[in-house]
Amino acid sequence: MTLVPRRRAILSFWPPAFTIRARLTLWYVALLALILLAFSGFLYTSLSHSLYDALDSTLAIEARQLQQSIEIENKQLRLGEQMNQLTPGSVVALYDSSGQTLLDGVPRWSASALAGAIRQAANGHDDLATVRLQNGEQWRVLVTPVRDNGRTVGVLEVGRSEHEVEAALERLLLLMGIAVPVTLLLATGGGLFLADRALSPIDRITRTVRRIGAEDLSQRIGLPPSPDEVGRLAETFDVMLERLDRAFQRQRQFTADASHELRTPLAIIGGQIDVALQRRRRAEEYAEVLRDVRAEAERMRELVSDLLTLSRADAGRERLTLEPVSLDELAAEVAGQMTPLALARGLQLEVDATAPVVVSGDQTRLMQLLLNLVDNALKCTPSGGRVSIAAKKQDAWAVLQVSDTGMGIPAEHLPHLFERFYRVDKARSRAEGGAGLGLAICEWIAHTHGGRIEAASTPGRGSTFTVYLPMRKLPF
Ligand SMILES: Nc1ncnc2c1ncn2[C@@H]1O[C@H](COP(=O)(O)OP(=O)(O)O)[C@@H](O)[C@H]1O
Ligand SMILES: [Mg+2]
Repeated sequence: MTLVPRRRAILSFWPPAFTIRARLTLWYVALLALILLAFSGFLYTSLSHSLYDALDSTLAIEARQLQQSIEIENKQLRLGEQMNQLTPGSVVALYDSSGQTLLDGVPRWSASALAGAIRQAANGHDDLATVRLQNGEQWRVLVTPVRDNGRTVGVLEVGRSEHEVEAALERLLLLMGIAVPVTLLLATGGGLFLADRALSPIDRITRTVRRIGAEDLSQRIGLPPSPDEVGRLAETFDVMLERLDRAFQRQRQFTADASHELRTPLAIIGGQIDVALQRRRRAEEYAEVLRDVRAEAERMRELVSDLLTLSRADAGRERLTLEPVSLDELAAEVAGQMTPLALARGLQLEVDATAPVVVSGDQTRLMQLLLNLVDNALKCTPSGGRVSIAAKKQDAWAVLQVSDTGMGIPAEHLPHLFERFYRVDKARSRAEGGAGLGLAICEWIAHTHGGRIEAASTPGRGSTFTVYLPMRKLPF
């Protein structure tokens, strides 16, 4: 049991558990530290090189000057006046071929430390060596041969302490040792501040989104519009909330409307049964009631089936079975099915589809679409009128058209016609058995086929419903 919290406590020190703010700062400071270290290293090594180079050149210049002032008489070496012009801090030693020291300075370095360099000089070559004195000080010594007529007659040593160079480098190291941590500290503070500033709108977004429950989708984040990343995020959230809000409202409305529509036939059935049960009745009377009840049940069945279609369509679970569908044949078939109804209402039903029009579509759904449109037209046209179905090609579209010479639709209703449960004349439509879902389903069918549906009407003269379906190249 104790393991879990302890592991969490350890994990919280790792970057994955850090806030973005801390992680950003950490990365930023780590990168800066790397850059500062690399820069300091470069500075230190290049300064150290040039200081040591300068030391070596001083020694070389001094050695050359001294060489010129060495006087040789009978193999005897002697230094001239130049000794006085030596740079302060330089120490000089001169040996003749017998190994005798002619001139000496303080401090002395042991000859053994220079053995290699002296051997080089005896062979006629210059050599530089670094020697450590007993007090721990490091000295740089140039060992150079003294020649007379091409023969080496002695060895000259010029040395300077490396102390000054070391002190300068130590000062630099100290400065960097202070400056780098201070810079990193400042950068951490600055980084946290900047990250805070950049991320505080995100905190605001989080708080708002948290406040928004499923019940209160009316809230918006409402950041002032800005084209930056956070501004875009907030805007995206607001757009999404707007869509969700509208979808929720639609859903609520849909459920309320559906319940209302279902309650009416149930109330009718209940009423009919109650009346029938009030007293004993004849068999025909019961049969009459049962027929009415059956009619209402049928109406409910249709309504529920429409509701199911729409809700499955909303959930994206209603799939089309695509096949080549001949719209001209479809028009003829629907006309055949609806002719009895048209005749019963004293209407003329005609088909205008001469050329073949084939689309890739769902035969059953397209049939449902056309049946709905023709059914509406027949219901909304007074007897003596005419309803015609046309199938044709128009530009890149296959077109299905149902027109009637009926009562038409007032212009203010046209934009809402395809909404669910929308009816121009509620009482009339209900009497005809409609719930206002037919055109909503038609629109969905047209849309899932990649097409659209349009309504045009002149009140008193008639209406025309036009379905445009894309003429796809068939894959078979
Ligand atoms: N051809 C038409 N002529 C006049 N009004 C129509 C026509 N087709 C549809 N409408 C109107 O549009 C409404 C919606 O139609 P629809 O969605 O099929 O519902 P329903 O047929 O169940 O009433 C109908 O109630 C009717 O008022
Ligand atoms: Mg209808």
